[in-house]
Amino acid sequence: MRTESEQTIYLKDYAPTPYRIVSVELDFKILEESTRVRAQLTVEPREGTAPGTPLVLDGDELKLDSIALDGAPLMQSAYASDANSLTLVEPPHKRFVLETEVTLNPAANTKLMGLYRSSGTWCTQCEPEGFRRITYYLDRPDVLAPFKVRMSAPKSVAPVLLANGNLVDQGDLGEGMHFAVWEDPFLKPAYLFALVAGDLGSIKDSFTTMSGREVELGIYCTHGKEAECAYAMDSLIRSMAWDERRFGREYDLDVFNIVAVSDFNFGAMENKGLNIFNDRLVFAKPETATDANYHGIERVIAHEYFHNWTGNRITCRDWFQLCLKEGLTVFRDQEFTSDERSRPVQRIHDVQNLRTSQFPEDGGPLAHPPRPDNYREINNFYTTTVYQKGAEIVRMLATMLGEAGFRKAMDLYFERHDGDATTIEAFIKVFEDSSGRNLSQFATWYLQAGTPQVKVSDSYDAASQSYTLTLSQTNDPTPGEPTKKPLLIPVRFGLIGPNGSPLGWTGVSGGTVEDDLILFDSDSATLTFEGVANKPVPSLFRGFSAPVKLSTNLSQDDLLFLARHDSDPFNRWDALQTASTTLIANAAQGKAWSEDDVDALRAALIDTLENGELDDAYKAQALDIPAETVVGRYIGKDVNPDAVAAARKGLVTALVSPVASKLASTYEALASSDAYSPNAAQAGRRSLRNGLLSLLTTGSDRGAALAANQFEVATNMTDRYAAMAISVRNWTSEASALLGAFRTRFAGDPLVFDKWLTASAQAPDEDVIDRMRATLAAPDFPKTNPNRLRSLLGSFVMANPVQFTRVDGAGFRFITEAVAEIDKVNPQVASRILTGFRVLPILEASRREAGMTALQALKEQHTLSRNVGEILDRILA
Ligand code: ARG
Ligand code: ZN
Repeated sequence: MRTESEQTIYLKDYAPTPYRIVSVELDFKILEESTRVRAQLTVEPREGTAPGTPLVLDGDELKLDSIALDGAPLMQSAYASDANSLTLVEPPHKRFVLETEVTLNPAANTKLMGLYRSSGTWCTQCEPEGFRRITYYLDRPDVLAPFKVRMSAPKSVAPVLLANGNLVDQGDLGEGMHFAVWEDPFLKPAYLFALVAGDLGSIKDSFTTMSGREVELGIYCTHGKEAECAYAMDSLIRSMAWDERRFGREYDLDVFNIVAVSDFNFGAMENKGLNIFNDRLVFAKPETATDANYHGIERVIAHEYFHNWTGNRITCRDWFQLCLKEGLTVFRDQEFTSDERSRPVQRIHDVQNLRTSQFPEDGGPLAHPPRPDNYREINNFYTTTVYQKGAEIVRMLATMLGEAGFRKAMDLYFERHDGDATTIEAFIKVFEDSSGRNLSQFATWYLQAGTPQVKVSDSYDAASQSYTLTLSQTNDPTPGEPTKKPLLIPVRFGLIGPNGSPLGWTGVSGGTVEDDLILFDSDSATLTFEGVANKPVPSLFRGFSAPVKLSTNLSQDDLLFLARHDSDPFNRWDALQTASTTLIANAAQGKAWSEDDVDALRAALIDTLENGELDDAYKAQALDIPAETVVGRYIGKDVNPDAVAAARKGLVTALVSPVASKLASTYEALASSDAYSPNAAQAGRRSLRNGLLSLLTTGSDRGAALAANQFEVATNMTDRYAAMAISVRNWTSEASALLGAFRTRFAGDPLVFDKWLTASAQAPDEDVIDRMRATLAAPDFPKTNPNRLRSLLGSFVMANPVQFTRVDGAGFRFITEAVAEIDKVNPQVASRILTGFRVLPILEASRREAGMTALQALKEQHTLSRNVGEILDRILA
């Protein structure tokens, strides 16, 4: 019907605030019924501000109780206030102190932005615009100030009182109340503010920094969960050491605290000195957490810690610059995991993630540049494009500059911009100044949406020993960007000779080639390599050196040759992926594979499995047959998910049938009785074994029973969950019973319930929607908890294409109806789930229309938040 506000904010309108906030003192009186917030802002006009310029502070659902200026109550005519703003009509033209008071009801705050209560604990989320839900403020990232926070609360319900920085005072107030005062000496924007009050347990440790300072570390959680925080603490300590080693970055406060809460819109938040985490990214024990959960905890703990330099010490000028901190920090956490575990395995993992989530975003109605130039609701721009593509852009810089060159540039970035709220342009400038390269064309990656398609063909002339590579790039239009500029694409490559060893060349013409890197910067280029002794097979985009879609003239044979001989582990993996994706996609479009194709692919897969030099985690990735959604995306138009699912199952069956016994005995041999450890070696072994179980279940009739048995005998959640999820995805005759057994076994553990919800939503059978409706309608379903909602609904839209995109529209309607309900409680969660509809344009017409009809009904029948309204309009446009 109508949305909250359809106003668009533009980057070009950026201007600094006319006033600066010199310092902030906050006083929170936390009581069971309500919280009273008194703010004392010391404010002064910036240089150049004309006398009489109004001061406009942001608010969101606030009501002003009292206001004073320099200690005196303010006359009614001197200000205006409503829920969304507070204006001083004509502030003094000098430094002054503004005092305001508001009363909040954190228990009623289901949006989980600002100050809210989660299972009794008071906590905050301020990024990006939550602080304005706590007090009237210049709530934008380029307003930096020192904060002093006093809080008082009943000792019985809130013995723990935390905020940013260092604890400077605490004491008893009588009548069951106590207080604490925290001071953060570092200037920060309001989005990094945090406060926690509650009855929490904790674990403590310490870290000695490279200059010998001792930092106290604490992780706070629900009582009884302390032991499950150990892996998070271990990850934190390793992150702190790594940032010193790899980037020379030392922690800067005396305290670093983390708090785990159960209701949280995202993964975690890097508030200065007081990170707040979704508890699913803190708690882990072998019986209830999978290897993937441990991996996620390590990654996100590192990510939030790394923000202390890339995000906090150097922050963003405005929210358009979000990927300045997010892309860079994701790059840093990817590098951390690569160094701590296996680099090729991590790279494959990250690229898989890019292809399954970022490419679909970039190729659909929600495509936007990593540095957008307009938005209606900034929360809709915490996207995989800003995060993951942002990280790929930084990675390309690292590829072009080399390790030492990259480190030198990062050193300059920290030196030049420490304490700044800055921009992508400034970041690029640092890299230009440090390396002497002109990066103006490269910067287009930040400003232009869409995944480039790179086509490569080659030819060899034996007589002249010359080899030619012809490259072209196309950048298809995306919403609001009808024409595109060519990008500077770094192509790391090698030429491989007939016996599998690298082939050299004596000279190259037609483009810029630096060692093994082609800098491809035009619509098309033809490179001629001289002195190439034999006809090579090219290995292109080694390590996935640029986030593009590649198509080549390589045959299935060439791909399988690469899968065996490429010295680049990423490309060996990718060759197998391309080989199987092509076969499935062709079959789904009516072009059957030949027996030879399947035999050759099977032989390459088995050789990989039996290769003594590869580790288990890598083998598991190599044996992973691309998901239906990846194949659908590869096909790209008029997709029929039923046909894709059938083709995928058909290929797996053809591959597995003749070797089922061999796979089954390898599966048995990989069993282990070692005590569980989340380390990379053990996790790799489990992932290979579970990968084989998946192949056997999809492609033979032996898997179902093996899975049911594994479910029973498993001694850890990784194996038990895999057994259940594989059974459910293949909807084996045991699947329903396993779901039931799992639910009973772990009744009462919310994070394990999420696993049940995630698996349940991926059942491909017709009744799945009815079952999900019943799950949601159960009186005890926690309808306001983001983790529960996302586990069920997010998993359905993103990973159950057959049922979500049903021709009868039942899947689409189930989601739009749920979104309408959730939107009233938590718009951020609702809009995130709705993004699943971005798949519509690639579907066959009947499904696309059914999806559009459901979206139209959502628009016509409901009053929607700005969050949902914006996503809806962009998909319908
Ligand atoms: N800065 C956080 C992180 O990536 C994410 C916060 C997103 N929150 C939000 N409400 N949009 O580490
Ligand atoms: Zn982040």
